[in-house]
Amino acid sequence: MNKLLLFLIFLLPIQGLAVEITPRPMEINQQRGVLILSSMPLIKLQMPNKQKAKFNHIINRELRPLFRNLQKENQGSIQISFSIEDSIPGINSREGYSLSVSPKGVMVEALDEAGLFYAVQTLKQMITDNKLQYVEITDQPRFNYRGLMLDISRHFRDKEFIFKQIDAMATLKLNRLHLHLTDAAGWRLEIKKYPRLTNYAAWRPEKTWKDWQSNGMNYANHNDNKAFGGYLTQKEAKEIVEYAAERHITVIPEIEMPSHSEEVTAAFPEISCTHNPHGEPDVCIGNEKTFKFYQDVLDEVMSIFPSHYIHIGGDEASKKAWKDCELCKKRMEENNLKDVDALQSYMISRIEKYLNSKGRSIIGWDEIMEGGLAPNATVMSWRGIEGGLRAAQSGHKAIMSPGGYCYLDSYQDAPHTQPEAIGGYLTLEKVYSYNPIPDSLADQITPYIDGVQGNLWCEYIPTAEHAEYMIWPREIAIAEIGWTPQNKRDWNDFHARVLKINDRMRQAGYNNFDIRNEIGSRPQSRSLEKHLAFGKPVKYNQHWWKQYTAGGDSTLVDGLRGDWNYSDGRWQGFLKKGDYYIDVTIDLEQSQPIKYIGGEFMQITGPGVWFPEKVIISISENGEDFTTLKEINHTQVDGPGTNFKLYDWSGNAKARYIRYQSTANNGCQFLDEIIVK
Ligand code: ACM
Repeated sequence: MNKLLLFLIFLLPIQGLAVEITPRPMEINQQRGVLILSSMPLIKLQMPNKQKAKFNHIINRELRPLFRNLQKENQGSIQISFSIEDSIPGINSREGYSLSVSPKGVMVEALDEAGLFYAVQTLKQMITDNKLQYVEITDQPRFNYRGLMLDISRHFRDKEFIFKQIDAMATLKLNRLHLHLTDAAGWRLEIKKYPRLTNYAAWRPEKTWKDWQSNGMNYANHNDNKAFGGYLTQKEAKEIVEYAAERHITVIPEIEMPSHSEEVTAAFPEISCTHNPHGEPDVCIGNEKTFKFYQDVLDEVMSIFPSHYIHIGGDEASKKAWKDCELCKKRMEENNLKDVDALQSYMISRIEKYLNSKGRSIIGWDEIMEGGLAPNATVMSWRGIEGGLRAAQSGHKAIMSPGGYCYLDSYQDAPHTQPEAIGGYLTLEKVYSYNPIPDSLADQITPYIDGVQGNLWCEYIPTAEHAEYMIWPREIAIAEIGWTPQNKRDWNDFHARVLKINDRMRQAGYNNFDIRNEIGSRPQSRSLEKHLAFGKPVKYNQHWWKQYTAGGDSTLVDGLRGDWNYSDGRWQGFLKKGDYYIDVTIDLEQSQPIKYIGGEFMQITGPGVWFPEKVIISISENGEDFTTLKEINHTQVDGPGTNFKLYDWSGNAKARYIRYQSTANNGCQFLDEIIVK
């Protein structure tokens, strides 16, 4: 044997197979060598009989099909053993496991069935071409709650769609499916005591949410000729619960209250303050019938969903009608509630008490903290991270799903390349960058941050294919945030794995966004642009919009161009004050030749962001007497998508001061930089 061959033979087992598991395990030690599955392995289960029967079902469903083509002769020469143990070094979670692949075979240990189930998910990812790399894995999740929320109200999605997402979730060790079942656009769960919820409030004349919204938000009877919508029967909902439970996923139902409830007040106007059957978002908190309604509904919900948590919504109440409602005012008086925030808290606390009395707990969106948080409530933080962190600091559990990192309805790539989204811009990388526990608060809040969740709101997502496109692959990042220790997470490593998972999912019939073709950030935003006005003093003749401060006084000359969305901290927002939106003077600090002055505006008309109707660019030597170089006029035109437009001047001039003013009669404006050359 020549030396080269010897060397290659030696090298072979070292190279082995790359062990690529997603979410990345807590501890993984690759060993030298590969176990070759040359014949059907013998699967041994060491656990009490009851668990054996259940786990055998999982093995038959998930593992044995991988061995289908292996020969049966010599069966048993390779063993895969699964055992439930009382203790395992390094593991303290019932979802954890240890897995060893060695010349002796595969040995899996866990404290509970959940851990064994996750070991199976790991094994499924490891077996390639009937080979398994020798490895020692000790693995358990960082967070207890690793979730996905599906909004099936805005556009109804059937059980088959939900089963399919559950399959993908399970392989990624996600364990909570939050179903947003009720909202203005349709009630989606059969409630036997109130059939009008699904004969009427689950149907509408328009197929899409956008058409429904723009045609006045009407409902339809189920058997009208043209009624769009649907709902889960209780039988179907139970099938979903069972299907999920077999994959160690808990389904958490959300029944929205007291707002987002136009469909409820349309079906039962008597439980709104005005009794108007059209367009009342909030239910009446002064009326006992309201509590009777929700308790009846929740009784049925609890009979379908065994989850410890019931989500009661609580977000975005308008609270308007309560102020003038005699019953609400009486309720406030009798209970010493100082304002409508406290009135909402009264309702949430009372519903919490009811659910607690049945052994359940509530989750609510972070608004439930306004007016006082119900004593045992868990907060789902969506308007940023503050609500969740505050809840955790006060000893409440929190689930983090901040819009800027976890809202899967945002654009995931350059908007002009994507189906229209409701707004936002959230790349896979940005999702992955999220850490639910900021280092500075780790000591205080770690025990209370229960986990993380990706939310798919579906106002702009009418089809199942589109929904999948928005969920995957970004929810894979949520899965890894939820499972993998922060110090074991690495974007480049994750990205390489996701490319392959994405391919596999697409082959399996999922409509994942193809990140191989990702365009990424707006080209202008990728590098610092140093120009004549870079770092120079800017005088704001009127202030920016304080919700969109960006970098404050220096934003328009900091060389940092904005990305595809105005909420990235680089776009400065402006509302009209007096004649102008923007009215700034830049001091170049000395008189000098100028060839170019320009700013690029963004327009997204959905949320009211418009191009200016006029921009005036002027110069001055003394900062007081300005000469206009150019007035740029534009007729505002509504249209889809995210658009950009330059308002600039080119020529030859000399000046120390530059004034840039913009105006219009409509909307708000966003500008990222004023470039001077
Ligand atoms: C929410 O996005 N309104 C919870």
